[in-house]
Amino acid sequence: MDIRIENLTKTYGNLNAVDHMNLCIKDGELVGLLGPSGCGKSTTLFMLSGLTTPTEGKIYFGDKDVTSIPPEDREIGLVFQNYALYPHMTVEDNITFPLINRGMKKAQAREEAFEIAKVVKIDEYMKRRPSELSGGQQQRVAIARALVKKPQVLLLDEPLSNLDAKLRVATREEIRRIQQEVKITTIFVTHDQEEAMSISDRIAVMKTGVLQQYEVPQTMYLNPANSFVANFLGMPEINNIEIDVKDGVITANGIVLRKGVSLADGHYKAGIRPESFFVDDNGAILEVNNIRMTGRDLLIFTKLGNTNVRVLVHSYMQVAVGDKFGVSVRDGHILVFDDNEMLIGRF
Ligand SMILES: Nc1ncnc2c1ncn2[C@@H]1O[C@H](COP(=O)(O)OP(=O)(O)OP(=O)(O)O)[C@@H](O)[C@H]1O
Ligand SMILES: [Mg+2]
Repeated sequence: MDIRIENLTKTYGNLNAVDHMNLCIKDGELVGLLGPSGCGKSTTLFMLSGLTTPTEGKIYFGDKDVTSIPPEDREIGLVFQNYALYPHMTVEDNITFPLINRGMKKAQAREEAFEIAKVVKIDEYMKRRPSELSGGQQQRVAIARALVKKPQVLLLDEPLSNLDAKLRVATREEIRRIQQEVKITTIFVTHDQEEAMSISDRIAVMKTGVLQQYEVPQTMYLNPANSFVANFLGMPEINNIEIDVKDGVITANGIVLRKGVSLADGHYKAGIRPESFFVDDNGAILEVNNIRMTGRDLLIFTKLGNTNVRVLVHSYMQVAVGDKFGVSVRDGHILVFDDNEMLIGRF
């Protein structure tokens, strides 16, 4: 089911929780809705579900305007952060509940519950109660309960926040697998940029109710529309530095970073990701101020002139605090922003 959001707005008092949002989601896509706390992610999802009425704008499921259709008639499956399984019911009863509620015969409801339980791999736990399952298993029951009605759209609001780091990664992979198997159009709300990038076909990044960029993850990471998106994506975070351009040479605090660029002379804000540096004896010579071992990488804290920067290198590099090493920036990895913090080029 295609979804089209037009000028969608929700106003609380004088706050635009969601501000004239436009978005098209293709049938079968998983879209990650990403942004900091309070940016309007849940409000967007609640409007899609019908639980919140928009102040302005329209929502289309396929060609049908669903803006004023009540939640129960929208054919959606919803999963929230605290997935609220019925604790006194078995897994099976939790999953069949929406079907029986709809008037389906028990035998058939059971059959359908079992089918979906196999997809989410909880079919061997049907007789257990939620308290006898791990967090990840409970989450899969919640997803099964949302999917059993064969909804056209699956809406997930921070469905993994209750899980520990490892289980979170495993469960997000499961969600992606299930979503692709069932081929259901899905919107997945999260404030975790890595989670969004890793399982989404496209990501929508929001800030204070306003959609900042809507793109496939890799393209967005390499071409962030503005400084906010550049800073929101990526861990460790991008380095924000100030640069000067004169006669095609980019310098930061007098240190040459690039020659031969076609960019008007002037002072700019720029972003360089920690992994965009590479060790180069002919590059800028920096001093190691601090080192963090992250596993795959070493994160080196250093200074470019008087600006603090973080540089990622392979963890096999032998360095100590006080050492000096040369670095250059990969081609196209100096992101330059204008006065409004919009990306104007990569050099
Ligand atoms: N019922 C309401 N009445 C008044 N303000 C509200 C209401 N619901 C949400 N808001 C405000 O709207 C803004 C967006 O809230 P929303 O819940 O959509 O954010 P969110 O992106 O989901 O944040 P989080 O990541 O913390 O869940 C916030 O400033 C919030 O305080
Ligand atoms: Mg929320």
